[in-house]
Amino acid sequence: MSRYLVHVTMMVMVHILCQQRVGSFVPGASVFGIGNGTASGGSPKARVAAYKASISDGVDVLSLSLGSPNHQDYFKDVVAIGSFHAVANGIVVMASAGNAGPSPGTVSNVGPWILTVAASTTDRDFASYVTLGDKKIIKGASLSEQNLPSNKMYPLISSVDAKNINASIKDALGCQYGTLDPEKAEGKILVCLGEDSNMGVEAFRVGAVGMILPNDKGRRDEMRPRPYLLPAANVGFENGNYIYNYITTTQSPMAYISRVKTELGVKPAPYVASFSSRGPNAVDPAILKPDVTAPGVNIIAAYSEAISPTGLESDKRITPYMAFSGTSMACPHVSGLAELLKALHPDWSPAAIKSAIITSSTTTDNYGRPIQDSVSNEATPFDYGAGHIKPDSAADPGLVYDLNITDYLNYLCGHGYTSSQLKLFTDKPYTCPKSFSLADFNYPTITIPQLGPGHSVNVSRTVTNVGSQSTYEVRIKAPPQVEVSVEPSKLRFQKKGEKKEFRVTLNWKSKTENTTGFVFGRLTWTDKKHHVRSTIAVNVTQ
Ligand SMILES: *[C@@H]1O[C@H](CO)[C@@H](O)[C@H](O)[C@H]1NC(C)=O
Ligand SMILES: *[C@@H]1O[C@H](CO)[C@@H](O)[C@H](O)[C@H]1NC(C)=O
Ligand SMILES: *[C@@H]1O[C@H](CO)[C@@H](O)[C@H](O)[C@H]1NC(C)=O
Ligand SMILES: *[C@@H]1O[C@H](CO)[C@@H](O)[C@H](O)[C@H]1NC(C)=O
Ligand SMILES: *[C@@H]1O[C@H](CO)[C@@H](O)[C@H](O)[C@H]1NC(C)=O
Repeated sequence: MSRYLVHVTMMVMVHILCQQRVGSFVPGASVFGIGNGTASGGSPKARVAAYKASISDGVDVLSLSLGSPNHQDYFKDVVAIGSFHAVANGIVVMASAGNAGPSPGTVSNVGPWILTVAASTTDRDFASYVTLGDKKIIKGASLSEQNLPSNKMYPLISSVDAKNINASIKDALGCQYGTLDPEKAEGKILVCLGEDSNMGVEAFRVGAVGMILPNDKGRRDEMRPRPYLLPAANVGFENGNYIYNYITTTQSPMAYISRVKTELGVKPAPYVASFSSRGPNAVDPAILKPDVTAPGVNIIAAYSEAISPTGLESDKRITPYMAFSGTSMACPHVSGLAELLKALHPDWSPAAIKSAIITSSTTTDNYGRPIQDSVSNEATPFDYGAGHIKPDSAADPGLVYDLNITDYLNYLCGHGYTSSQLKLFTDKPYTCPKSFSLADFNYPTITIPQLGPGHSVNVSRTVTNVGSQSTYEVRIKAPPQVEVSVEPSKLRFQKKGEKKEFRVTLNWKSKTENTTGFVFGRLTWTDKKHHVRSTIAVNVTQ
């Protein structure tokens, strides 16, 4: 690829796809009055984010919500190359991790000059409660502005029981267009399985009064509220089974769907969304990816008033806001934070901003427990990287792990890039140093791709003081089967900008736990006021 093409790609990226700036505060942002609040970006408890794309010069943060799902080497990856040039120009680049989870090894946009963002939930639900004739109450999710007349139960049927004779059971079960018979569905609440993308179009067409959408097994309890055309609730997989069972075992099944209510302070939150792409990093297993997680589920954002929320012409509704889910929704939260940090610390490099966001993030949820995934298992750094972003702490991280463009080029040298491959990344010819240890690449997390019996690895890192005079001590939470020591264990800084190097030794520990595969721990520098956390990930072999 020619340099010209790289630059053109970069321009295209800037102008069409990427640049999202944090919108100003917009009061009264809601979807049909639901989730009404002030829209902004990057605030500590951000549940609402509104962004307007703008095209301008003097960009200092680039947010990429695109990426190729195949894991190519950086020199074949236009996003990696383009973003490298952006970073060389002092621009902080964030990118979404992708929505290919929860399978392992799916994370995209993994260049170490990029901040890779996973998606997690917020503590806000758009709740709609289903009451069954047997008094069972089931919590669901919805953004429908329609309400059922209250104090009355409605006949409840599975959509299959309203099937057109010519339709397949599978299509009728999902309420696909044209598969239901109005004579059988009118005035009833329909249960339609799994597919929530049709937004109730078929149920509405056949005159149903309401709709219940149970998740299939894959999505379990992860609910997606949508602006359905009729009163409707998306419910979890187990609850769906309960409802189907209630219908088949009851003489005249009945149900009611409550109006949508915005609930705050929901627990547990955050947890990592099932769709969020996962580590390990398929391009370079020595760099932990994703880097962090941020709110990316049911985020209210600006929506085009030129089309209806269902995208259908028959749908006459318009809304300036809509709720979206995806790592593309998580990414702008981190961009907002990066812009804030850039404004507070104009002298910080892109790597310093990245480091501040990574080392200050948290791995606990609002129960004070370890962050979980969508099926209530304890999440790992392959799900959330260093953790969930914590804007207040990121503004004052104490220490940063800095990197400049020479370090990034040396990193590529360490991967054996030829001079013609390096030319894609730099305008000037670059000569690789005679030796460069990838283990010493100053990334804010530490990942050892292999540690076998009797072996040890030395890793060095340099921290830069961005606070005032202070003394830091190291705290280690060693991964199972690994012994970790740090030298020195105390770092004394006299002034801002001072750099100190330390060495971490990781030893394979004798067979007590008998673990294989990736294990995780943490190295923290603390002066009591700041806690500069680095995730340690080690692939242990026996
Ligand atoms: C949203 O809240 C604001 C302020 O509380 C209120 O003035 C406005 O009417 C509300 N909008 C909707 C659509 O409910
Ligand atoms: C199935 O039958 C219905 C009602 O008789 C009709 O409206 C519909 O077009 C038919 N669909 C197909 C695919 O033949
Ligand atoms: C980049 O940082 C390295 C230390 O990692 C330093 O030796 C080098 O001079 C720096 N290069 C530039 C261009 O600032
Ligand atoms: C790590 O460093 C220590 C102290 O300098 C040294 O004794 C040891 O051999 C080193 N280990 C490796 C694997 O290089
Ligand atoms: C360790 O694991 C291996 C393979 O899973 C097994 O064969 C071995 O017996 C285990 N050793 C101990 C001490 O548990």
